[in-house]
Amino acid sequence: MEMAANNIARIAALLTILVAVADPFSQQIIGIVPCILQMDVLTASVSRTNTYVATGGHTGALESEVDSPMAVAINTGLVSPPDRITSLVSTTCESGNCTFGQFSSLAVCHSCNEITPQIVNLTRARGPWNYSLPWNESEEYLGFTDIHLAPSTHMNTSVALSPRHLLDVRILSLNVTTYESANAFQCQLYPCVRTYEASVTKSILEENVTSKFPLGFDAFGGFRYVLATSNLTLSGEQKLDCSMRPTNNTAGLVRVAIPNVDAAPQEPQSSGSKAPSGWFPEECVWTFGQSPYLAIRPEIQRYLYDTSIQQYDNTYIGSIVAKNLWRNGAINLDSVDTFMRNLSDVMTARIRNASPNGAGDYVLGRVFLDTICVEVRWAWLSYPVALVASGFAFFLILFIQSPREIAALRSWKSSNLAILFCSLEEAVRQKAELGWFRDEISEVAKTSFVQLEQDGAGKAKFLEG
Ligand SMILES: *[C@@H]1O[C@H](CO)[C@@H](O)[C@H](O)[C@H]1NC(C)=O
Ligand SMILES: *[C@@H]1O[C@H](CO)[C@@H](O)[C@H](O)[C@H]1NC(C)=O
Ligand SMILES: *[C@@H]1O[C@H](CO)[C@@H](O)[C@H](O)[C@H]1NC(C)=O
Ligand SMILES: *[C@@H]1O[C@H](CO)[C@@H](O)[C@H](O)[C@H]1NC(C)=O
Ligand SMILES: *[C@@H]1O[C@H](CO)[C@@H](O)[C@H](O)[C@H]1NC(C)=O
Ligand SMILES: *[C@@H]1O[C@H](CO)[C@@H](O)[C@H](O)[C@H]1NC(C)=O
Ligand SMILES: *[C@@H]1O[C@H](CO)[C@@H](O)[C@H](O)[C@H]1NC(C)=O
Ligand SMILES: *[C@@H]1O[C@H](CO)[C@@H](O)[C@H](O)[C@H]1NC(C)=O
Ligand SMILES: *[C@@H]1O[C@H](CO)[C@@H](O)[C@H](O)[C@H]1NC(C)=O
Ligand SMILES: *[C@@H]1O[C@H](CO)[C@@H](O)[C@H](O)[C@H]1NC(C)=O
Repeated sequence: MEMAANNIARIAALLTILVAVADPFSQQIIGIVPCILQMDVLTASVSRTNTYVATGGHTGALESEVDSPMAVAINTGLVSPPDRITSLVSTTCESGNCTFGQFSSLAVCHSCNEITPQIVNLTRARGPWNYSLPWNESEEYLGFTDIHLAPSTHMNTSVALSPRHLLDVRILSLNVTTYESANAFQCQLYPCVRTYEASVTKSILEENVTSKFPLGFDAFGGFRYVLATSNLTLSGEQKLDCSMRPTNNTAGLVRVAIPNVDAAPQEPQSSGSKAPSGWFPEECVWTFGQSPYLAIRPEIQRYLYDTSIQQYDNTYIGSIVAKNLWRNGAINLDSVDTFMRNLSDVMTARIRNASPNGAGDYVLGRVFLDTICVEVRWAWLSYPVALVASGFAFFLILFIQSPREIAALRSWKSSNLAILFCSLEEAVRQKAELGWFRDEISEVAKTSFVQLEQDGAGKAKFLEG
């Protein structure tokens, strides 16, 4: 019994100490960690469209004025494209970190190739340089002419308008390192459907073009409309079935000529032609309208027609566009290609932002939020849990180890007043000669030794100790 009591006391002491060091463990249970959450309540969108029909107005038969934002875009693209052209694309991403699945949009595409082998060397022995880029008359490319690089001319261009393209340009430039050779390039701009993969990181839109698809002519839809259908992904991961539909239920369908982009280009026919046509879902039809088609071509043509660089002593004279294309003589296929890509990307940004349905056509994305998460580290909970368990175990052991008759002996926590009802043994009382006053009683109590025992009648009584 004695041993058990000692052990219980030791355990109690140990538990008291262990409880004192529990605090650091409790603090470790809750951890704060950086985390990325997908927020469905926030919105993300990037502009895209199926249709571009913006116009500055009708100015005559088959003549339109270019709409002002597109005029600005063409100028910007030719002269001073921004470092990140995607900054011109309307984008919302409330957290600054968003992803968009694949999506397609009407766009302007370009292609450039080197045609240096077509150059004819007319330079006479010991004469000044004389190069020619001859052009064989062709109905398709109305406007191309021979280009000559006569002495003092370093670069010259010729522009044609093929029905299928927004621009065709041929460029002949002198190699300024040697003056003994020249380079020639030919580029096109044309309406197309581009499929993008996009994401926003740190509020900066990044886009990759995963595929592009040139628009064919729509001989049915009207004079010089450019339309096409394709099976390209439209929005997110969702693929659309763009196959031709039966004609008995045409809700949500649009009638267009069956695209045949591989066929040889031909002058568009007036409406009412017998070109094969079919019904396709709206989302599969891409339209580059007649008015912008009529307006944009002469607008770009103006900038790139006869764009020459001429030398006067050590000064090079030419328009800003010519200088930007010539790049101090560093012109090569790469730079010409980038020049045209810059122009097509800036024009595409304008087309995407000018969606006739506004934001209704934009592609929606997922928003990710960089935030702080609270993490419960359950391992750290084991110590406090063990402590509580030991506490329960301790009280259980204490209960089991305590003597059964403990209830009868229980005096602690009972009222002290009970003692006043116990009588004092006569011998003690007389020995002490109890006085009446408080001080006297106190004095006697200090010198008397008594113990509480049961008297013959079983009552508690103070006997001399
Ligand atoms: C953006 O969210 C993605 C989660 O899809 C995450 O991997 C990436 O680290 C986040 N970037 C920033 C800058 O927060
Ligand atoms: C360049 O060659 C063409 C064709 O031979 C000729 O007519 C022209 O005079 C020449 N120009 C110069 C500056 O030699
Ligand atoms: C122009 O025609 C001639 C003869 O018909 C041919 O040899 C030459 O390759 C053609 N040039 C171009 C640029 O088509
Ligand atoms: C550039 O070429 C055009 C023909 O395409 C010609 O009329 C013009 O004179 C040339 N310009 C220069 C500076 O040689
Ligand atoms: C100019 O000629 C030099 C020497 O033939 C050549 O190394 C260089 O690549 C040429 N430049 C261009 C832009 O073709
Ligand atoms: C063009 O002809 C001249 C004179 O015949 C010659 O010196 C020069 O190297 C030739 N240029 C090219 C690119 O062949
Ligand atoms: C674009 O392509 C680059 C290089 O392949 C890649 O690192 C980047 O993640 C891509 N961006 C998007 C938005 O797909
Ligand atoms: C589009 O899909 C249809 C049916 O899935 C197929 O017949 C057609 O060749 C596809 N067209 C293109 C351009 O991929
Ligand atoms: C349309 O016609 C096709 C057969 O040509 C038929 O299978 C389909 O049920 C018809 N749809 C409607 C809405 O009438
Ligand atoms: C294309 O645009 C970039 C900026 O986006 C610019 O740095 C580069 O010089 C441009 N290239 C040409 C050939 O205009």
